Amino acid sequence: MTGPFDELLKESAIFARRDCLSPHFIPDSLLFRDEQIANIVKALTPSLRGERGRNLFIYGKTGTGKTSCVRYVIEEVKKLPTVRSKISYLNCRIYSSRYRVLSKIMNDHLPTYSKRGYGLVDIYEKLISWIEEDGKVLMVVLDEIDLVKDLDDLVYTLTRANSDIKNGSITIVGISNKISMKEELDPRSLSTLYENELVFPPYNSRELLAILEQRASLGLKDGVYDRAALGLAAAIAAKDSGDARLALKILSGAAEIAENEHREKITTAEVEKASKSAEEELAYELISTLPEHQRLVMYAIATLTIQGGRYRKLAEGTETYLFSGEVYDKYSAIANSMAKQPKSSRWYRKYISDLEMQGLIATYESGRGIRGHTKLIKLDYPAQRVKETIERGLFKEAEANVQKEEPENQETEN
Ligand SMILES: Nc1ncnc2c1ncn2[C@@H]1O[C@H](COP(=O)(O)OP(=O)(O)OP(=O)(O)O)[C@@H](O)[C@H]1O
Ligand SMILES: [Mg+2]
Repeated sequence: MTGPFDELLKESAIFARRDCLSPHFIPDSLLFRDEQIANIVKALTPSLRGERGRNLFIYGKTGTGKTSCVRYVIEEVKKLPTVRSKISYLNCRIYSSRYRVLSKIMNDHLPTYSKRGYGLVDIYEKLISWIEEDGKVLMVVLDEIDLVKDLDDLVYTLTRANSDIKNGSITIVGISNKISMKEELDPRSLSTLYENELVFPPYNSRELLAILEQRASLGLKDGVYDRAALGLAAAIAAKDSGDARLALKILSGAAEIAENEHREKITTAEVEKASKSAEEELAYELISTLPEHQRLVMYAIATLTIQGGRYRKLAEGTETYLFSGEVYDKYSAIANSMAKQPKSSRWYRKYISDLEMQGLIATYESGRGIRGHTKLIKLDYPAQRVKETIERGLFKEAEANVQKEEPENQETEN
């Protein structure tokens, strides 16, 4: 008799260890990152010796190995027999405000203290007295730091703590893939965070191929893939962005297809198929985590693309290009309808260039002829899916706001 789980529980013909292909998996050795790892270690060494270290800021595009390298170093540090240095690693996608960051730090080190309900001032004072107890050196790693809503306040508070602490110190390691971070920060936060800066370059296709080979040998069965297939996945990811996460996603997608279609091997055909959906999936992930107003601009673009902008009406039969001006009007209308103040057109132009840099849209100069000289915008992904992705996000947020029990009102100034 066959049961409903038989197919699922059957040993895979393709995968040896599926988890090795997941983006959360950190291999024992991170290829091509010796220099970056050595620099992270160097920046953290004073802290490990019990001295105040310099803050470190790590920048690199998505999938360049920032999180993996830092987590790798943290694991190594944890193996050391030092007592005085403490580390908190936080992903600011989750800990996205000063209050949440400070609560999480306390929760990491003093779980009995940090039951809900303390105000910011209490937490701050407790943190300082805990550090001063025996001159601790605390390292706070803030991954995806650009997602902290009140980052200037957070940096100010941590800096202020450092000067209040008589015995011990706090070192900040910030990580971000957002290039415009520098422009948005207060100059004081900037000079605090960027005491040391470390850049992670994108990977080229040769490097991506080696990374894929390393993972394939761990995650896939022998003989189920060939170099040409991995090479194609590496080349696609290198051309697009030099993003190791994308390369891995394509490979695991191709493996999944081979498995489902009962193929013996992963070939370039499966890779091609997988690359289409992997790129789209990453784009939707990116869209759903865009800052609020950029997301509303994307929403305006998707809606207008579906409705057909004024340009299409002018130039019948062309792909859907939108006038920058009509997108701005639509965005403003959407923001207003949600009782949010639309940002100025100067900000809007910055959002457009951010969205273009992230590969979500393309822009063109219209050339002369159509109303003088204007910018045209084209969405690079299917409009309906983009629209639905954003709607789902907005819906979830509305729900979360209703359920939220965090004492935001306790975020009193200190
Ligand atoms: N040098 C490397 N060797 C092996 N695997 C790597 C390497 N760099 C990245 N990877 C793999 O690529 C994936 C993405 O890496 P990681 O999460 O560190 O990127 P990131 O720079 O933090 O990206 P983001 O800015 O999007 O957070 C992970 O699965 C990681 O294991
Ligand atoms: Mg990361």
